[in-house]
Amino acid sequence: MEMNIALLPGDGIGPEVVDQAVKVVKAIGKKFGHTLNFEEALTGAAAIDAVGNPYPDSTHEVCLKADAVLFGAIGHPKFDNDPSAKVRPEQGLLEMRKKLGLFCNVRPTFTFPSLVHKSPLKKDRIEGTDLVFLRELTGGIYFGEPRGRNEQGTKAFDTCVYSVEEIERLARMGFEFAQKRRKLLTCVDKANVLATSRLWRETVQRLAPEYPDVKVEYEFVDAVAMRLIQWPKSYDVLITENMFGDILTDEASVISGSMGLMPSASIGTKTKLFEPIHGSYPQAAGKDIANPLATVLSAAMMFEYAFGLQEEANAISEVVNLSLEKGIVTEDLSEGDKAYKTSEVGDWLVEQLEK
Ligand code: IPM
Ligand code: MN
Repeated sequence: MEMNIALLPGDGIGPEVVDQAVKVVKAIGKKFGHTLNFEEALTGAAAIDAVGNPYPDSTHEVCLKADAVLFGAIGHPKFDNDPSAKVRPEQGLLEMRKKLGLFCNVRPTFTFPSLVHKSPLKKDRIEGTDLVFLRELTGGIYFGEPRGRNEQGTKAFDTCVYSVEEIERLARMGFEFAQKRRKLLTCVDKANVLATSRLWRETVQRLAPEYPDVKVEYEFVDAVAMRLIQWPKSYDVLITENMFGDILTDEASVISGSMGLMPSASIGTKTKLFEPIHGSYPQAAGKDIANPLATVLSAAMMFEYAFGLQEEANAISEVVNLSLEKGIVTEDLSEGDKAYKTSEVGDWLVEQLEK
């Protein structure tokens, strides 16, 4: 197969982790006989510095004509500490999600047998966890209007808004995911307080009879925050709005032992995008110490979701598992043993694939 992949390394550790994923993707191409074409484009603070826009039109063009986008991270401390900055790197990420129609962010949470002891949570609670969040990604309070300040600057407001169509397309994905998995769907909302949440619940209830093989449960987001770390194995597929999903998926990453391990796929109406759930980790940028595995696993999701190539995806997951078992890991996971560099982990994965 011929694959055109857009590379958006972005900020902080983005470029170094994307480099490792690209090495692995190339090794897969060689092993399975695929032709890979890469095109790199600017995003985030790097794009603001270069052209004054965190998601330039030229980058959007590159994404639109690609078959898949591999994305690193966005964000820079010089903007975090300056609330008055007019252009922010994160705006680029949100604009990219909106313009590419990426309404469904797939964030799986699973444990790695060799790492279960790394989680601060008890082994018997988390071992064998296998759940997936479908986070709505282009609506809700992240995008609602009006937003801003009153004239005096003494009040600020954001608007959470959802249409039935936005909820329905995400919910249908949830039902379809559940049908392919353990057939349990949890709708996460705050329907006891929020009007948008009541519309979510109503919409999911209306669709449920179309998927009689899926058991649906409805749970308030605060209760999910608690049950998620107490009984993660009791979940299968969770669907939720943008901000709840942002918060809960960070929480869920603790179950796997490290945020440096969790990949994601964003799917929607145009080119699909694959990115680690961690951020730009500026303190580690350029030091060759960041964990590349979340990005490498995002590349595995790319083979599965963008190209329908399960074997290629599995081959990546297998070598990642092997690296964890053998302790070929970066300092966040090395536990006093030798810590490998970001690039060394990438090279080791490639070597295994070439065997
Ligand atoms: C994420 C990130 C982003 C989000 C930020 C960087 C805007 O936290 O992808 O989860 O809130 O969506
Ligand atoms: Mn987040």
